[in-house]
Parts: sequence; C-alpha cells; structure tokens
Amino acid sequence: MKECVFIDGIRTANARAHKEKGWFRNVRPDETLSALYTAIFERNPKIKPEMIEGLFIGAANLSGMQNDIARSAWLATGLPESIPSQSICNQCPSGMSATMDAARAIMTGEVDIMLSGGVEDMEKVPMGYAMDMSPRLAKRYSPGELAMGATAEKAAEVYNISVDDMIAFACWSNEGAKMARDTGRFAKEIIPVKGHKEDGTEFMVNTDQWIRESTDPVAMKAMKTPFKANGVISAALSSPLTAGAALMLLMSRDKADELGLSYTYKYKFGTQMGNDPTIMGIGPIFAVRRLFEKTGLTPDDIGCIELNEAFASQSLACVRDLKLDNPNVPFKKVNTWGGALALGHPLGESGARILVTLLNRMKMDYPNEKYGLATLCGGFGNANAVLIEKVK
Ligand SMILES: CC(C)(COP(=O)(O)OP(=O)(O)OC[C@H]1O[C@@H](n2cnc3c(N)ncnc32)[C@H](O)[C@@H]1OP(=O)(O)O)[C@@H](O)C(=O)NCCC(=O)NCCS
Repeated sequence: MKECVFIDGIRTANARAHKEKGWFRNVRPDETLSALYTAIFERNPKIKPEMIEGLFIGAANLSGMQNDIARSAWLATGLPESIPSQSICNQCPSGMSATMDAARAIMTGEVDIMLSGGVEDMEKVPMGYAMDMSPRLAKRYSPGELAMGATAEKAAEVYNISVDDMIAFACWSNEGAKMARDTGRFAKEIIPVKGHKEDGTEFMVNTDQWIRESTDPVAMKAMKTPFKANGVISAALSSPLTAGAALMLLMSRDKADELGLSYTYKYKFGTQMGNDPTIMGIGPIFAVRRLFEKTGLTPDDIGCIELNEAFASQSLACVRDLKLDNPNVPFKKVNTWGGALALGHPLGESGARILVTLLNRMKMDYPNEKYGLATLCGGFGNANAVLIEKVK
C-alpha cells in the first residue's frame, strides 16, 4: 500500500444561504468551486492541471446548479477536458466520502495526484430539492421523522441532553469560531470570493457569515423551536442553511517527495457506518467506534477532533457517548475553532471543510499530536470518520 499525504486544503468562507441576506446570493455553487479550482493551482505552482489524475467532489444534492458539479465547474473554469471526475452524493458526508475515495485510489497505487472536496449552496439547491421519496421507504419511516430537525429533537430526548448544556455548547462554538477568525487562524484556508453584503455592497468574502459577535443564553432560550411544538431545538442550536466549497490536494508520498513538496499529515484510515435514519445525528458514534475497533486506538490517542455540528443535541450525544472530550464545554480537543453551529454547514461541503480545518488546527495548535480525527453524520443515517496521522 502506498501512503497518501495532504499537500494543501482550502475553502471558501461559509455564507448564509439566504435570498436577501446571503453574501453568496449572487454567486452560483459552481463559481465558488471554480474559485477553489483556480486557487489550488495558484498556490501550488509545481502542480499543473494536466497532472491531476482524478477529481472527486461531494454535494448532498446533485440537482439543478449542482448537477455533476465536479465536472461542470471544472470545464467552466477552462481546465483540461482529459481530467476525469466524479460528483459524489451521500448526503452530508459527501465531501468526506469524496476525499476517502481519492485517498484510497492513491493508496492502491492506481493514481498519484488527486483533488477532492465538497460544495453546496442550500439556497440555490435547497435541501430535498427534486426529491421523490420511494413509497416503500415512506412506509418504513414516516417522512416527518426523517426530517433533519425531527432527528435532532429525538437525539436530545434519547440522550437526555438539556437545553442549558446545548446553549452553553452553541455559545462556546461561536466563541471558538470568533477566536479563530480574529486571530487569523482561518486565513490560511479561506480563499476570498467576491460576494455582496446585506446592503448590496460588493466585497471579498473572507470570513464566515454566521459567526455572531455576541451570544445571549437568555435570548437563545426564548427562541422558537421550529421542528416541534414545545421542542428544544431552535435556530441557535441548529447549523444554519449555508453556502460554501472546500478542496484538497492529495498525493502519494512518493510523488510528493519526487516533486519536492512539503507535507505534515497523511490519510491513515477511514470508516463509514449506517444507523437509524430517524436519529441520524448519532451516526458518528458508530463510525468512530468502528474506527477505534479497526485501528486499536482509543480516544486518548487522538489529539485533535473535528465533529460536524449539524445540531447541538447530536454533537453532545456523540462527544459524551464516545468520551471524546469533557462531557460539557469547554472542550480541549473537539472543535476549538468552532463548528457548524457558528461556521455553517453547507451539507456536502462540510466533510471536506472539517478535514481542511483539522489539518490547520493540528498544525497550528496541536503540533506535537500524532493523530487527528474528523467525523460527521448525514441524512438517512450515514456517517463517516477519517483519521489523519502526523508523518513529519
Ligand atoms: C433552524 C432553521 C429552520 C432556521 O431557519 P429560518 O427560520 O429560516 O431562520 P434563519 O436561519 O434564516 O435565521 C434564524 C434567525 O435566528 C437568529 N439566530 C440564530 N442564532 C441565534 C442566536 N444564538 N441568538 C439570537 N438569534 C439567533 C438568526 O440571526 C436569524 O435571524 P436574522 O435573519 O434576523 O438574522 C434552519 O436554519 C435549519 O433548518 N437548520 C438546519 C439545517 C439542516 O437540517 N441541516 C442538515 C443537518 S444534517
């Protein structure tokens, strides 16, 4: 088996997917992805587009503007027709699945240089857009209990997660994101893309739109719960509807050495597990448990963790069940630069985005740690986990 190393990882900022307020409301998802296709070659001048042997991009919904978006954005950017690509869809883990597939292709020796990532614009291609659910599936599960918000309410109930703990977690996530933004920690990963402020002014979007300047637990507790009457999950405890893209350059270690490229981390291991779709958010429990079983590692071996915050309830359920960190915030390893509650969650982008952020967090804040872990849940009950290892 060959080794697969991470050469570079970039992303756009995440903007609200909102017709009037979203900073990317006038930017198509293929254009955010195209900006990254351009930037990755500018940042890595030794790599020419013709050298890429495959391009895997995840999106949770491949309809409309996101139809075969890996290829359509590549061709629209004017890049070589000869480079093969795949647009990959398994809901929220799509961008991580794309990266796992790319890494595995390198490790088997089939290819040496790959691009992988994810993209989503939940305003232009809304959740469930053009979906036609199987009547037999609708018999097995009522469509209402498959809705993301309903699964988040169920996770809070089954795992007994209190509103106060979720609010503390959401505030802490926001504080971490603000700290990371204000100390320039995201500067290495965010590629500025032209967008529009709420008032219509054009500007270069280089920070995540959803990060709040302050949070007020009392006001958060008073917010309505849109998913269930007298429920517990509000907009403050949910990842917002978001738009954004992320992209990574992966390479066999041999090829990176041959080209004289620097790297610090390699793809070590990845797992996927299915679980009950009516409580899809706890999927990381099964994916990470399997990863630990297969690798013989334990939570103590992992120095830094990115766990996608689809909702506060499922995030806390996963952290607690897997004993990844303290049972409540502040966390030492998990999402210290904030998570999706503050940064947003453009569905199929997030699996790639959290890997990009994991690489930067490891390098900047956990330089002596050997292992980093990224994991996320997905609609219909699909979860992924990826382990990275420091090699230099
Ligand atoms: C929760 C949800 C329904 C809310 O949608 P919405 O009602 O259209 O509301 P928006 O997200 O546009 O805005 C919510 C409002 O709450 C406010 N809000 C959010 N967090 C807040 C906080 N901590 N304190 C105060 N206000 C807050 C926002 O500022 C916004 O108000 P504004 O437009 O005046 O700025 C939607 O974000 C959602 O469905 N999220 C989950 C997405 C999902 O399922 N993803 C997949 C997961 S697997």
